[in-house]
Amino acid sequence: MRANNSLEIVDFESELEVSQAIADEVVELVTVNPFAKISFPTGSTLQKTYGILRDSARLGRFSLAKAQVFLLDEYVGLPRGSIDSYLSFISREIQEPCGLPLEALHFPDVHASDLHEASEKYEDLIRVVGGMDLQILGIGSNGHIGFNEPGTPLNSRTRVAHLAPETREANARYFNGDINMVPKRCITQGLSTILSAKKILLVATGLSKAGSVSALRTSRMTESLPATALLTHGDTRIFVDRQAYGNREFFLDGSQGGLRS
Ligand code: F6R
Repeated sequence: MRANNSLEIVDFESELEVSQAIADEVVELVTVNPFAKISFPTGSTLQKTYGILRDSARLGRFSLAKAQVFLLDEYVGLPRGSIDSYLSFISREIQEPCGLPLEALHFPDVHASDLHEASEKYEDLIRVVGGMDLQILGIGSNGHIGFNEPGTPLNSRTRVAHLAPETREANARYFNGDINMVPKRCITQGLSTILSAKKILLVATGLSKAGSVSALRTSRMTESLPATALLTHGDTRIFVDRQAYGNREFFLDGSQGGLRS
């Protein structure tokens, strides 16, 4: 393992080592501060980390009993209670198995009649509790964090956002490969909401993330690559495995705001 660069990148041999390191960070935070406020993402990148946390909880070595957990984002348009919702995902992966009381799991009300108001309420809640102690992030292959897609302004707050076509395509794997089933909208914490966290850990594993990691390492701050917003944050580290930190060269395609090899 080694750390370098201004946006501190910490690279590991394998996905398992990355997952263990992130789980260790969570356990350490909650050991020091059982009342910690933590925002977790969904998706495949963190699933091994969540598995390690569940194992630790089963062994009585870890508990979120006094913590507060916040969803990073949530789909708009799924039926209430859908197993594909991010609320269901975090409930299954983290909340129940790690002893987090239901009332300590916070999320935007994506079923409200006024989604704008619901977004503002969630933003206010995050502000009122004093922001996150720890924000954990995955990254999209187009460089998104949360569902802040390319083109999102740095000063964005929690709001209704549209998923980029490539994000819907990537997420179709959770909907039997049918892109038409993937919601088009979500409520996501904004970039400035994410940046209000005291500490941020971004996780990228696997070849499919090599492009965004490479662009993130070489790019200055640009709205075409939302993760570069993290350059303005004083306590961010990026944990990568060997595949995501490979030697392939990628370039930002300014006209599309995407990445090409
Ligand atoms: C999910 C989220 C997204 C994912 C990103 C990576 O709550 O906010 O930004 O973190 O799309 O997804 P995976 O880990 O599935 O590759």
